[in-house]
Formats: sequence, C-alpha cells, structure tokens
Amino acid sequence: MKIQAVKGTRDFYPAEMARHNWIVDGWKAASLRNGFEEYDGPIFEYLKMYQVKSGDEIVEQLFSLQDRGGRDLAIRPEITPTLARMVNQRINALPRPIKWFSVPRLCRAERPQKGRLREFFQWNIDIIGEDRPEADAEVIFTTVDYLRSIGLTSQDVRAKISSRRLLAAVLKRIGIPADDLDSLYALLDKKPKLPAETFEALLAERVPDAEQAGRISEFMSLDSVDRVEEFIAGDEEGLNALTELKVAFAALELMGIADYCAFDPSIVRGLAYYTGVVFEVHDVGGELRAICGGGRYDNLLRDFGGPSVAATGMGMGDAVLEILLREKGLLDEQVPKRQLAYFVACADRAFSKEMYSITAAIRSRGRSANFSYKLGGLGKQLKTASAQNASTCIIIGQEYLDKRELIVKDMSTGEQTVVPAEAFLAGLKGD
Ligand code: HAM
Repeated sequence: MKIQAVKGTRDFYPAEMARHNWIVDGWKAASLRNGFEEYDGPIFEYLKMYQVKSGDEIVEQLFSLQDRGGRDLAIRPEITPTLARMVNQRINALPRPIKWFSVPRLCRAERPQKGRLREFFQWNIDIIGEDRPEADAEVIFTTVDYLRSIGLTSQDVRAKISSRRLLAAVLKRIGIPADDLDSLYALLDKKPKLPAETFEALLAERVPDAEQAGRISEFMSLDSVDRVEEFIAGDEEGLNALTELKVAFAALELMGIADYCAFDPSIVRGLAYYTGVVFEVHDVGGELRAICGGGRYDNLLRDFGGPSVAATGMGMGDAVLEILLREKGLLDEQVPKRQLAYFVACADRAFSKEMYSITAAIRSRGRSANFSYKLGGLGKQLKTASAQNASTCIIIGQEYLDKRELIVKDMSTGEQTVVPAEAFLAGLKGD
C-alpha cells in the first residue's frame, strides 16, 4: 500500500529544510534586534477558544478533535488567542509593554492553493500593554526590517495600512447599523480577492441601499488620507481614528520606511478581533496573496476574561514569502550551503580504524567532521568531501602509521601540508 502525504502539507527534505531554517533564522534575528522575546504555547487548545473572537472564516477552517474525555479541542490555526490566554494568566507579573515573538506551526483546513496550505509556519510579533499608535508603527517597522534584510525593496513589497476604527466610523456615518459591522467586515475583506462585479453583487445583497453601497466602495478606493474627513463629517470617533492613523504614518516616516508604506482603506482583515490600525504586506505586482497581516486588537484579552489591555501585532506565513523570494531570485543564493569543517579520507582501506578514531577526535573537539563508509579510492572520497562542502580534508596515509602525521588539504586552494596528528588535534582546541 502506497501512502501519500496529506494534501496541503509539505515534506521538508534537507534542501527544503535549509531554506526553511534560513527564513526562520531571519525572523528570529529581526525579532531580537527589535527587542522581542520568544514564547510558544501548545499546538492544540480548547475548540471554544477560536470560537470566541477569531471569526467565522477561521472557525470553518479548524482541524478539530475530541479527546478521550470527550473534550472538544482544535489544532491551532493561529497563535494570537493562545498569546492572549498566556498573557492574561500572568498579567500582573509581566512588565509592560510585553514584546513577544513566536514561530508556531499552524493548521487550517483551507482549500490548498498557491501560497495557501493546510499546514504552515507563521512568524508572530506582538506588543501588549501599549496603546500608542507608535506601537503599531513598530510592528510594521519590524516586519519591513525583516523583509528589507532579505533583499526585498520598496519596489517589491508594500505595507498597506488602514484602520478598523476609522472604517467603523465611516460605516456608521453612511448609516450601517452597528450590529451589521462584523459580518460586513468579512465581506469587505474579500474585496481585493474577488472580481469587481462579484464584490459589487455581494455588497448589494448585504447593503441594498445603492447610495450607501456606493459610498462604501468609494471610501474603500481612496488612495490618500486627505479625502477621509469627507467620509467622517466631524464624527468624533472617526476623527480620533484618523489622528491615530496619522500618528502611525508620522512614526513610520521617522523610522525611515515611509517608502514601504501606503494608506489603503480596502485593507479590512478577515479576523474579527481587530479594533484599530490594521495592515497587510503585499507584493507590489499584486500577483500573490498577502505576505503578512496584522493590526490592533485592544479587546481580545478582555474578551478572554482578562483585564482590558491594549495589543497590536502581526503574523507572516512562510508560504507566500517563499514564492515571492523565489520569483525575485532571492532565495537559493541566500540560503547557506551545507557546511562541513573536515572530511576524513583514507589513502588506503587499511587505515579505516584510524579514520574512525580521528573523525571522533575532531567531533569531540566541537568541529563538524564526516567520512565515507564506502571508502572507495581517494579520488572518490575527495569528491564526496567536495559534495559535502568540506573546507578541509584530512588524509590518512602511510605517514600516519610511520610518523603519526596527517595530510591536511585545503579544499578551496588544493594546498596540502603534512602536520603531526597531535599538533593538528591540539590546534582544534583553541579557536
Ligand atoms: P492571518 O491574516 O489569518 O492573521 O494570517 C497572517 C498570515 O499568515 C497571512 O498573511 C499568510 O502569510 C499566513 N497564512 C494564513 N493562512 C495561511 C495558510 N493557510 N497557508 C499559508 N499561509 C497562511 C493571523 O493569523 C493573525 N493571528 C495575525 C496577528 C498576530 N494579528 C495580531 N497578531
């Protein structure tokens, strides 16, 4: 019986693993240099945790299960609810603002397609306990800081920024009842992903008044904050939201990444818990799905039974990022090749015992070393050493038996020197 991998999952052979590790290492380095600390949680939680505030889309995509005690559980589709639960548990002991990051493996029962899998990794950064819009800007800065560090320029990617709070005020002004907002957000979030006519038809179904629907579409097509005031017409909540957004943009300017950022009111976000500034990073070509998304979620900790504490953050998956990097030719050249410090070869099969002991001696001094079980001729072993990217090859020949000397071959220059074995091993200790 031949068993296939489950649709929408990936196998990480060493070449894929090397790419994956390079991406994760970059995420971690960017988090640390921006002052975030790492955390993690369990890969499954109570099902109800995702039913509270994540929104219908996530709930439909849950991999859920029942344990033997009949408890309803779900594999995590995101880590933000876990973060809220963990922070709530220690809210009084944790110095604020809490700046944490994580790289969880997540599962969503999505229909697999380009950049969308059923199992993926997602870099998360979150700032909890800071309500200033500068914190939203810091999340966006950290995201851009990473993307820039791997060679993506402002010609390649754009952080599209808007505000749920502003959108709520605009919708209220247009005359949409507050109770309809959540379901309307889910539809508006789909605007950029749907053909224009399909979106207009769905909007007309939800908002039958053509003038109201037209105003919504008009607002969502704005390309600068200058005309926003027209849509809020003095509404205090709307003006406050607009001020917040402007402060965030000013901070992004100060942080030197204004060229990566743009106001885009069509960014709504699919998750239900966002309350303020929201953003997504997209490829400028507009071919791919969002590289990442996030925003402010000031009510989630309270909704999970904790105190009311401000929070903002983002999540970036590995799938779209990898596609974009490959398309831009930025992936394979940056992923480090397999590295091996030493390859131990034998000039003759008779020295295989020494090969084992010298390899072990090098490894026990903390250096990487490998050898070939098959041995074969010296030429073949040197080929294997090259294939494994060994920097140096140690050749054991007759001089080892005669004088305890090793041939040390620099694999980049081809230069060979003869070194007493004892001196060679002693030299490994120091540096
Ligand atoms: P999200 O928009 O659901 O937000 O996901 C964020 C990113 O995760 C997406 O832009 C995409 O890169 C990646 N992603 C999501 N679903 C998939 C999938 N099925 N396959 C591959 N990649 C995927 C959240 O998850 C929020 N919890 C982020 C957040 C953190 N907001 C505040 N803090």
